[in-house]
Amino acid sequence: MIDAARYEKMLYNRCGLSGLKLPAISLGIWHNYGDTDSYQNCKEMIFTAFNLGITHIDAANNYGPPPGSAEKTLGRILKEELKSYRDELVISTKAGYTMWPGPYGDWGSRKYLMASLDQSLQRLGLDYVDIFYSHRRDPLTPLEETMGALADIVKQGKALYVGISRYNKEDTKKAAEILKSLGIRPLIHQVRYSMFDRIAEKEVFDTSYKEGMGIIAFCPLEQGLLTDKYIAGVPSGSRADKENSFLKKESITDDKIDKVIKLSQIAQGRNQSLAQMALAWTVREGAAVSALIGASKPSQIIENVKMLEHAQFTAEELIAIDKILNG
Ligand SMILES: NC(=O)c1ccc[n+]([C@@H]2O[C@H](COP(=O)([O-])OP(=O)(O)OC[C@H]3O[C@@H](n4cnc5c(N)ncnc54)[C@H](OP(=O)(O)O)[C@@H]3O)[C@@H](O)[C@H]2O)c1
Repeated sequence: MIDAARYEKMLYNRCGLSGLKLPAISLGIWHNYGDTDSYQNCKEMIFTAFNLGITHIDAANNYGPPPGSAEKTLGRILKEELKSYRDELVISTKAGYTMWPGPYGDWGSRKYLMASLDQSLQRLGLDYVDIFYSHRRDPLTPLEETMGALADIVKQGKALYVGISRYNKEDTKKAAEILKSLGIRPLIHQVRYSMFDRIAEKEVFDTSYKEGMGIIAFCPLEQGLLTDKYIAGVPSGSRADKENSFLKKESITDDKIDKVIKLSQIAQGRNQSLAQMALAWTVREGAAVSALIGASKPSQIIENVKMLEHAQFTAEELIAIDKILNG
């Protein structure tokens, strides 16, 4: 059931100064791949993505629930369904948040990163990941130690490339310099970036690009807020409707919904959905290399990839969008 035409449907962008190209849309497994989720749905989402040319799947040690279970789900799909396609896939994982109890299961020590990647490889059933990230900057561990561990991981062949996530400007520059001094070029910076969260644009885009890294934008749909789904309230079963969700009902303010409605009108004028326009905006020229989406059902992935049918913006559209976002 693998579509022979899958590579005709996707745009691939070079990641920074590397030789690696990433799809304009990548798929993350932060939500909906845990032990409590339907395995059949997970499998269908991965197949849908791969058949649309989404070659990059992003994990982290702690995705679940429980932590680790999303990597296990992905590992099972890779083993049972996609074993012969390993060389057509870019699989990433990360360590940096709490994973196991005690002083060695969190943050950015060499001890934690090395052990965590070994555990991730076991859960994923892989010999190596394509990209391994430091998931967050550990202010109490010298950057030389964290970056030294990343460099050694590449030298050991456990990751082909390494990246950083959520680093500030100064640490981004330092991290890149340390890695380069160790003979490793950092591939990528994973940052939160969407129409509703443009901090990264000002803070780290320039530095990351100057250091030769690509930018991959996580939560490009603001966890679903940048779609039409919350305009008429919180639908049952949506992320904001779930208990202990990272998308809090209180964060869906009247001001945000007002902006969503106005942005939707621009999207309609472009003959696309707001989700499609929000993703196209995230990967517009000079912005991110790839928009790292999440999904709860295959139909969302299908809708989102269709953004490629109208990915360009006129100068007038960009000004109108800015006006709404800054209003
Ligand atoms: N580095 C980091 O620290 C970090 C942090 C967060 C995330 N990430 C990465 O980024 C990935 C994506 O994060 P995210 O899931 O928050 O991304 P997102 O794309 O902003 O939100 C995805 C959610 O939006 C809804 N959605 C998606 N397409 C839709 C559509 N066409 N129409 C209506 N609703 C739609 C779905 O939620 P419903 O459940 O409501 O359907 C979906 O689960 C994660 O999986 C992870 O890999 C990294």
